Amino acid sequence: MVRIDRLDKQAHTRAMLIRFSTFALAVCVLAACSGPKGLQPSKADVPMIAENFMLRDQNGDPFELFKFDKAPAIILMSQIDNDPVSEQSIKALRDLQKDPVAEGAVFVMINTTDGVTRLQLAQEAKRVGAPDMRFLLDHRHFVSETLGVTRGGEVFVIDPRRWAIVYHGPVDDRFAARPTPTAQHTPVKDALTALAAGQGVAFASYEGGGAPITYPPSDDPDQYVNITYTGSVAQILLDKCTVCHVPNGVAPFAMTDYATVRKFAYPMRREVRTGQMPPVNSDRHDGPFAHVEDLTDEEARTLVHWAEGGAARGEGDDLLARMVRPLPTAETATAKKPAP
Ligand code: HEC
Repeated sequence: MVRIDRLDKQAHTRAMLIRFSTFALAVCVLAACSGPKGLQPSKADVPMIAENFMLRDQNGDPFELFKFDKAPAIILMSQIDNDPVSEQSIKALRDLQKDPVAEGAVFVMINTTDGVTRLQLAQEAKRVGAPDMRFLLDHRHFVSETLGVTRGGEVFVIDPRRWAIVYHGPVDDRFAARPTPTAQHTPVKDALTALAAGQGVAFASYEGGGAPITYPPSDDPDQYVNITYTGSVAQILLDKCTVCHVPNGVAPFAMTDYATVRKFAYPMRREVRTGQMPPVNSDRHDGPFAHVEDLTDEEARTLVHWAEGGAARGEGDDLLARMVRPLPTAETATAKKPAP
């Protein structure tokens, strides 16, 4: 009896031990799952190549990316108001700006907050202690969308020699998704060092820890295929573009029907994204240029997303084919004059 009793006790202790070590193992596994702190690869959909864009800063001055082709590096950072990671990352970038490796590099912030005004942006720049930094207003989200931005404090390092995006992620691991208390890895500084030395940089992308950006539901790329020419695009073109884009008009191509317009879907996307069309900033104030009306944000998004979604026609009548008539030329005007 005693023997059995003792054996039972031993078995019990063994079972306890096994249970404890299973528990300990589970804790270890969980700890491993939450992973080491610091830089983790990102799953963000970041393009390899930077597209050109034009956005205005807090003073209303235009910033066109491709104008900075002589800079050794361009550093863009997504910035959200009242996001501690955005704010601290700006401070870190300002420190980096003073470093000799950053000499000549261009640093700009990209703000996506809906409805924010230039004045508010200027105030925010002052509040975070960066009044002389350029904060660009991306209220139409075109730039953030194509860069695949999902959070504040995401840095993009661009190599202007080939317009390659060489780095995407936090300034350093203090601003990573699992932040470290001190900066152990400084990928932005490392990329700048390599670019300043004329070296190539291999692409890297890490998960940041900033506040998430909220895009409007209309910015869901899965929905772009549903934007059609007959549904919305033709009306926008008729209202905002056909003063000039008519046969015999001042513009290089006429928007006469779906087939013609579809060929220009990507050029139109480019012109709208860079703020070139409609030419509201033209210094010509005569002829059709006297009546140029800008696109609303919604219209601009519709045109750009329509091109990205495949430039579908949709059902029904071709509005431009029905409405757009050639402008009279000197010849046709005289030909029509009744004989005296
Ligand atoms: C006030 C006249 C005017 C209006 C309004 C206008 N355009 Fe233009 N557009 C021009 C002129 C002039 C050019 C050629 C010079 C230039 O590119 O700046 C042009 C060029 C373009 C091009 C470049 C064509 C190419 O060969 O690549 C595109 C695309 C375009 N316009 C799209 C639009 C769209 C879309 C709208 C409406 C949202 C629009 N334009 C409104 C006058 C106008």
